[in-house]
Amino acid sequence: MVQDRRFHLGWFLSFNTPYWNDVYSGNNGAEWMDGSFHIDMLQSLERAGFDLMMLEDSTKVPNTYQGSTKWDLAYGNFAPKHDPIPLLGILAAATKHIGVVGTMSTSFYPPYILARLMSTLDHLTHGRVGWNMVTSSGDLAAKNYGMDKLIEHDLRYEMADEYVRLVRELWHSWEPDALLMDRETGQYVDPDKVHTIDFEGRWFKSRGPLTTLPSPQGMPVFGQAGGSNAGRDFAAKYSEFILCASQGVEAMKEYRDDIRARMKFFGRDPDTCKVLFITEPIIGRTAEEAQVKKKVRYTLDEYQLHCSLSWLSAHTEIDFSTLDLDAPLPELSTNAHQTSLKSLYHMGDTVREIAETWWHHYINEDFVGTPEQVADAMEAAMDEIGGDGFLIETTVLTRSYIADITDALVPELQRRGLTRTSYTHELFRDNLMEF
Ligand SMILES: Cc1cc2nc3c(=O)[nH]c(=O)nc-3n(C[C@H](O)[C@H](O)[C@H](O)COP(=O)(O)O)c2cc1C
Repeated sequence: MVQDRRFHLGWFLSFNTPYWNDVYSGNNGAEWMDGSFHIDMLQSLERAGFDLMMLEDSTKVPNTYQGSTKWDLAYGNFAPKHDPIPLLGILAAATKHIGVVGTMSTSFYPPYILARLMSTLDHLTHGRVGWNMVTSSGDLAAKNYGMDKLIEHDLRYEMADEYVRLVRELWHSWEPDALLMDRETGQYVDPDKVHTIDFEGRWFKSRGPLTTLPSPQGMPVFGQAGGSNAGRDFAAKYSEFILCASQGVEAMKEYRDDIRARMKFFGRDPDTCKVLFITEPIIGRTAEEAQVKKKVRYTLDEYQLHCSLSWLSAHTEIDFSTLDLDAPLPELSTNAHQTSLKSLYHMGDTVREIAETWWHHYINEDFVGTPEQVADAMEAAMDEIGGDGFLIETTVLTRSYIADITDALVPELQRRGLTRTSYTHELFRDNLMEF
C-alpha cells in the first residue's frame, strides 16, 4: 500500500486589521471590519487546499506596558479586534469546504450559550465549524466580565474539563434521528428523543436540552493551544487538533510525542488529534530574495521595539517597561500565558534581544527560501516529527504574503503529494481525520 504522506495546513489569525501601513497593504486598514478581507483570504486558502482558518480571540485592551493602553492601541496588538464568532457564518457562506474555527473562552461564556452558538454555526456552515477551547489568560479580560481577577491557572483547566463534559452532554441532548418531519402525522420532532441533561458539577449546572437540532457534525471540531502540563492533559483528553507554538524540530517532536503518549493514557487513539506547528515561512523567487525579506522582518525600529515590549507585557501581564533592556530577563511568574513566559528565556540573553526575537519568533530559519527549498525543509521536518501539519501565522499579514504561501509554496507542496489538492469529505472533521 502506498503511504499517504500528506500533512495538513491551517492559518492562525485574528479578526483585526491586517498589516495596514505597508506598500502591500492596499486599503486593508479601512476595509477589514465587515469581514471582506477574511472572506477573500479564506477563498485563497480553500483554493490551496487548506484544512482550516482559525481565529484567535482575546477581549482586552491591555494597559500593562507603561501602565497605559498607548502602545497596544498604537500598534493594534490586542485591540481593535472584532468578535470572530459571527464572522464564521459569513466565511462559510463564501466557501464550500474549508473548516472555520473560532475561539471562545470557558472562563467567560456560560456553557449553554456556547453550546447553542456552536450548534447553530455547525448548521450554518454545513458541518465545517470548530471551537478553539481556551481558558483565557490574565486578569484584564476577566474584569470585563465582572470578575476581579481570572481564576488561577490550573483551576481554570479543572473547570474547563467539567465545562467540556457539560457542553458535550448538551450536544447529545438530542438523538441524531430526533427530527421526524412526518407529513402524514404532522409530527415535526420526536419528543422521546430529546432529553434533559440535568448536569450538576462543582462549578457548572445546566438542565438542558439544547433548543437546536442535532448539527451535521454533532459537535464542533475541538482545538486547543495550552502548553503547560495541565494544558497538555486537557488537549490530550479532548482536542482534535492542537496549535503548537514549539519551534525547532526537536521541540516539535517532543511536544507531539508527549501529546500522543498522554492520549493513549486517556484511552484515545493518538491519530484522532492533529498537532499543527505554528510557523511563518518566508518565500522568495530566489534564496537571496527570501533572505532580503527575512532581513526586513528582523529589523525593528524604535517604535516596533516598544510594540514588541507592549505585546510581551500584554501577554504576560508583567510591565516590561520596568525591566532593564540590556540585562537578562529576571525570574518572573504569571497567572497568564505560562508557556509563553517560559519560552522567552530561550529567545535572547537580554530583554532587548528577547523583544527583538519575539517580533519574528515564528520564522524558522529552515523555512526561508525558494518554494522548493522551503518544501524540502517542511517535508524533512514532517518526516522527522511524524506529522501532522503546519499552521501559518504572520504579524505582517497582506494579500502579498498570503499569495507567497497559497500561490508559490503550496503548489510546490502539492506537486510532491504532501498537501491536499481537493477535499474528499463534506465535513471538516472527516477531512481533518483523513490523513
Ligand atoms: C498558539 C497559541 C494560541 C492561543 N490562542 C489563544 C486565544 O485565541 N485566546 C485565548 O484566550 N488564549 C489563547 N491562547 C492561550 C492558551 O489557550 C492558554 O490559555 C495559555 O497558553 C495558558 O495555558 P498554558 O499555560 O497551558 O500554555 C493561545 C496560546 C497559544 C500558545
